[in-house]
Amino acid sequence: MEQSAGDGSSPSSSAAPPQKRLTVTQRDQIAAEGRVFGILQSLEDASFQTQESMLELWRDKHIEYLTRGLRQLGPNFHVLDANRPWLCYWILHSLALLGESVDSEMENNVVDFLSLCQDNEGGYGGGPGQLSHVASTYAAVNSLITLGTERALSSINRHKIHSFLLRMKDVSGAFRMHDGGEIDVRACYTAISVASCLNILDQKLVEDVGNYILSCQTYEGGIAGEPGSEAHGGYTFCGLASMVLIGEEDKLDLPTLIDWVVFRQGVECGFQGRTNKLVDGCYSFWQGGALAVAQRLLSFVDEQLKSSFLEGKQVAKGICSTSSSYPSEGDSDLDEHRGEFSNIGSYFLERESGCGSLFHSAALQQYVLLCCQVLEGGFRDKPGKPRDHYHSCYCLSGLSLCQYSWSKNVNGPALPKTVLGPYANLLEPVHPLHNVVLDKYYKVHEFFSKS
Ligand code: FPP
Ligand code: ZN
Repeated sequence: MEQSAGDGSSPSSSAAPPQKRLTVTQRDQIAAEGRVFGILQSLEDASFQTQESMLELWRDKHIEYLTRGLRQLGPNFHVLDANRPWLCYWILHSLALLGESVDSEMENNVVDFLSLCQDNEGGYGGGPGQLSHVASTYAAVNSLITLGTERALSSINRHKIHSFLLRMKDVSGAFRMHDGGEIDVRACYTAISVASCLNILDQKLVEDVGNYILSCQTYEGGIAGEPGSEAHGGYTFCGLASMVLIGEEDKLDLPTLIDWVVFRQGVECGFQGRTNKLVDGCYSFWQGGALAVAQRLLSFVDEQLKSSFLEGKQVAKGICSTSSSYPSEGDSDLDEHRGEFSNIGSYFLERESGCGSLFHSAALQQYVLLCCQVLEGGFRDKPGKPRDHYHSCYCLSGLSLCQYSWSKNVNGPALPKTVLGPYANLLEPVHPLHNVVLDKYYKVHEFFSKS
């Protein structure tokens, strides 16, 4: 953008041409492009063998960095004191993506710690004794799902979580983050995702939330945090995933949403979070995840699968509205429509994609492996930034999404499709709606729907 020199002289009387001033974002963009293009050029200039090693995933380094974070964090982490369940989730999920589990002592420590964060009135706070928060609840529940043991899953008081989520429900249908807290699409997603995994999603929780999310889809096609705000990748993922989990995805303008997300993948190969902003590794999941979800919505190419999906919904309704393995005292809170939502997350996995990948998968893997991977372990937003656990989690989650296609067989496993670099780079597949490793999802789904 050109701006005048701002010295009070009129353009015609000034001998000097108007100075070209750049905005902060433009300057940052030029610096980021310089760094990224330098790295991509060195890949292009390298021999095939060197390219293979440049594209290697440094598993051991990542595992070391992540495991250390789970055991002990430095004093700078006091700023994340209200995000401790998030630290558990980012680290445990990253390790699970790498195919690693924690030892039983650590597992017990995490379960005990998260139990201390669980509030008597339902939900989890950001630390022991802290106010219950919907996002912390999502992080705690996803951590326990990732641990996946009987002890971890039984430590979740799902009936109290149901009451807590109902309490967080606003008259508009949307959710607020905590008592007196902000209402946005993130709160809606974290509430819906938790309720869906715990099989407590019912009509009372779902009521009108789809209309709220719809009111956040902007003229650009992406979804904003709240009505009237700017479309953003994080909220677009949250909004789309929520709509799928409540069976209302058809309300969204999907073609425009896809267009908007597709054009967020830039020349740097990674995704930006919003129009005219900088590329960032974490959007590999938020934007890549939105497209991975959208890909499966485009069509049911297999009619047989379509009828089994619809049939499944009916069967689920039959089973779940009449019997459950869970204590009956709490079940009276859950309304009779719960069965309608019980299996949406699991049947979604059986939907075959109507098309190939909607983004450039190899390019995104290149960005994550070359530009976000830190030699000492961990991932970062972009070259020049420090690593952190949040970016490690979402870079790895995005990388995993890139690597898999979906089996044509009902109940078939996810099949690896495009693995850039050595095949040993292959990660575990994730459930694209909840961002937990697929096997962990199957386990929790079975655990909370057995009769
Ligand atoms: C902008 O930050 C970031 C936001 C407005 C929030 C984005 C939302 C998410 C990442 C989703 C969160 C989801 C859950 C499940 C908690 P910025 O201005 O620093 O970044 P930008 O320039 O890339 O937009
Ligand atoms: Zn980021």
